[in-house]
Amino acid sequence: MNITLLPGDGIGPEITAVTKALLQAVGSRHGLPLVMEEAPMGGAAIAACGEPLPKETLRCCRAADAVLLAAIGDPQYDRHPRQQRPESGLLGLRAGLQLFANLRPVKVIPSLLGASSLKPEVVSGVDLLVVRELTGGIYFGQPKGRIGSGSGERAFNTMTYGAMEVDRIAAMAFRLASQRRRRLCSVDKANVLDVSQLWRERVERMAPTWPDVTVEHMYVDNAAMQLIRQPRRFDVLLTGNLFGDILSDEAAMLSGSIGLLPSASLGDSGPGLFEPVHGSAPDIAGQDRANPLAMVLSAAMMLRLGLGQESAATALETAVDRVLKAGFRTPDMMADGCVVVGCGAMGEHLLAALEDPVEDGAPQPDVNRV
Ligand code: IPM
Ligand code: MG
Repeated sequence: MNITLLPGDGIGPEITAVTKALLQAVGSRHGLPLVMEEAPMGGAAIAACGEPLPKETLRCCRAADAVLLAAIGDPQYDRHPRQQRPESGLLGLRAGLQLFANLRPVKVIPSLLGASSLKPEVVSGVDLLVVRELTGGIYFGQPKGRIGSGSGERAFNTMTYGAMEVDRIAAMAFRLASQRRRRLCSVDKANVLDVSQLWRERVERMAPTWPDVTVEHMYVDNAAMQLIRQPRRFDVLLTGNLFGDILSDEAAMLSGSIGLLPSASLGDSGPGLFEPVHGSAPDIAGQDRANPLAMVLSAAMMLRLGLGQESAATALETAVDRVLKAGFRTPDMMADGCVVVGCGAMGEHLLAALEDPVEDGAPQPDVNRV
């Protein structure tokens, strides 16, 4: 089982070190032949090779069984032309591996209820999954660019979806909903956008093939409101690329810390890409303050969805659950009565929790799972 590890920028290397040690431990406990190879990506790759996604990195990812990315982004490249920025490397990787489906589960963990900026009674029991289209829409639509100059300059992007692109992400969302609470909310802006009218028609057309799943359509502005008003009403949220980018950050805040949220990006075939939802947090990089849990939970998603190793995935999630229940917190999640720990120490506590055998029939961990 070949894994390409992309530590990337900012806090990326610190959280990668923790996650790698845990993968090694869980691999040997579960007898998994895990081989991990690191490759440069993002700002680190611009510094080392002059481009955010070197050909060799893409080749290594394509050849792997799964790709685990920490985070990319570095403010020193903010003024670089678009193709020379870390984010372009990530978009290139998503396109290069044809990862059209991005799954972002958000589950509010009871022991972290107080960490949310929303009232505990609003967020308690939230368990939703954002299914975001990832290789189309306004992120990749043509034409795009800038023309003219001075006060006559214009810039433009195109939000476009083909029926086939909507169908394949909708099918994925229906399937996932049918395995969960069987409620699908498709998000669009069909009252204004032609592209959303097509989106809605394709989802409606598919609905009869999933009779067990209840479908509703919601305008994106209303979805943004309902997510903080009544977040428990959502099970699976199906979105296009841009709407999903925005709503998944909003949904992340329900759980109190974006430092807890994993994600999986999948295509029809080939390796999946697993990464935390958070960014590279350059302001705290190198200070041993980073929260490694989202990357550890992303590694669990990788084991489950990318490598088919359910029990190893659950072992990692159980370790995260136990460490949180024991009251260990990185500064971003700190609450009264808890013990603040750094990134490295969090890793040690996770390793200890992993080594401590769990009784059979133990309840499912409370953490984020698809
Ligand atoms: C995300 C990020 C990326 C996106 C950026 C870094 C390109 O915000 O994964 O949500 O916009 O998709
Ligand atoms: Mg985003």
